[in-house]
Amino acid sequence: MKLSRDGTHILGLDLGTTGAKAGLVSAAGAVTAEASVGYETSTPRPGWAEQDPLDWWDASAQAIRKVLAAGNVDPAAVAGVGLSGQMHGSVFLDGAGAVLRPCMIWCDQRTSDQCAKIRELVGDRHLAEWVGNPALPGFTAPKVLWLEENEPGSYRRVRHLLLPKDYINMRLTGDISTDVSDASGTLLFDVVNRSWSKHMTDRLGIPVEWLPGVLESGDAAGVVSAEAARATGLKEGTPVAAGGADNACGALGMGVLSPGRVAVSIGSSGTVLAPTGSPHVDPEMRLHSFCHAAPHTWYLMGVMLSAGLTLRWFRDEMGEPELSESEESGDDPYDLLVHTASRAPAGSEGLIFLPYLTGERTPHSDPFARGVLFGLDLTKTRSHVLRAVLEGITFGLKDSLLLISEAGLPLDSVVSGGGGSRSRFWVQMQSDVFELPIAAACSNDAAMLGAALLGGVAGGVYPSVEEAVGSAVGEGERLEPQAETFDAYRRSYGQYRRLYPALKPVFMREY
Ligand code: XUL
Repeated sequence: MKLSRDGTHILGLDLGTTGAKAGLVSAAGAVTAEASVGYETSTPRPGWAEQDPLDWWDASAQAIRKVLAAGNVDPAAVAGVGLSGQMHGSVFLDGAGAVLRPCMIWCDQRTSDQCAKIRELVGDRHLAEWVGNPALPGFTAPKVLWLEENEPGSYRRVRHLLLPKDYINMRLTGDISTDVSDASGTLLFDVVNRSWSKHMTDRLGIPVEWLPGVLESGDAAGVVSAEAARATGLKEGTPVAAGGADNACGALGMGVLSPGRVAVSIGSSGTVLAPTGSPHVDPEMRLHSFCHAAPHTWYLMGVMLSAGLTLRWFRDEMGEPELSESEESGDDPYDLLVHTASRAPAGSEGLIFLPYLTGERTPHSDPFARGVLFGLDLTKTRSHVLRAVLEGITFGLKDSLLLISEAGLPLDSVVSGGGGSRSRFWVQMQSDVFELPIAAACSNDAAMLGAALLGGVAGGVYPSVEEAVGSAVGEGERLEPQAETFDAYRRSYGQYRRLYPALKPVFMREY
């Protein structure tokens, strides 16, 4: 098939945890313009995390407008739009499509009672068999049970249950749908057969009519409506892909689509993702087992709840020196924080940080775990603390990498992406801690790039997701592990592994 691609643009939108990022991408994968608009997360109680879907829509529409202006692109030249979205959020709509309450997002930890109830009602064996995943707070199904128990008035009015990016797709097209990769994180989806699990919806009493139709990620979900064209500046009739979960899209944007390649990504969460050519459920369900954003492809993934989120917290609560310096010099505060960390030696001389600020998923499924700074003494400086924070996040990623390796999946090449890959120092730390060579992703916005590629598939720019990735995704610098750091990191990592089991009984069970 010969493709005519000259002057073609595709538009990707990543609906992340802190904001919506839109990007214009050429058919060859060059990101030609980007624009981001942020939104707030509210924490009405400890462990809760909510966002307003209307804020997402405003931010998405603005980000699209801005990127079209920044790229100076005629909307008629945009061949397709694709979305990537934060997973697991619960968007409850009434029959008229109005939002009934704020979305409980992926890191919301309020549903431990409902997860216990699901385990009791379904049992671990059936969870593995029917949906391939354990009942974890943050996943969508326990949020539905929470609504039923705690806000019955809203529950009675629910007619549609959508995931975050599907709400934006609905606002863009007027049509309701989801895709296999995002549906995988609801705990209502049979990942093996790529369809809703009737067993699960029946057992939990969740009306199947609330669930949208499921498409493959590169399928067209609809076209931009006249109303959305007015709000975004896109051309009415532009094809919109079903899109994908942020981790699946991020993996596409990092070229991680087939077994052997592994994506390590540091965004708000931290993820380690390994594709599989057939469904593969970890019998102990320590790793998530989800559909990938290309047909006949799946992946296993470990998820840390607070990776970039931890560094953001540090910046906001303890980053005053770097924030002031950044105001004067114009340098990015994160670069300055990493620079401060780099003044302490590898292993932070025994200072260990457990990055469980919002509880943890992999490898310790525990909503009550909390952050810990262990090993302080009078010789420790702010640099040690910051370095320990970066190392703690990296150790958490190594935990997931080891589980993937134990599951028997090959680790032929590791690609590092997400905001964390912007720092060469942190990518080198990953390589040293994992003791593996690591290539940096070619784009820091892999999820947005992956989303754009899905838009390109839906818009006919590429014949398939595989070909999109093949023609548009390259690789960044490759870093080799430095053997002289191994001893220090091995010692610290050993200590890190011992701390959680020792502290587990001490973490408070309620907040
Ligand atoms: C994945 C997960 C997070 C969110 C972040 O299971 O919860 O990675 O998708 O947006």
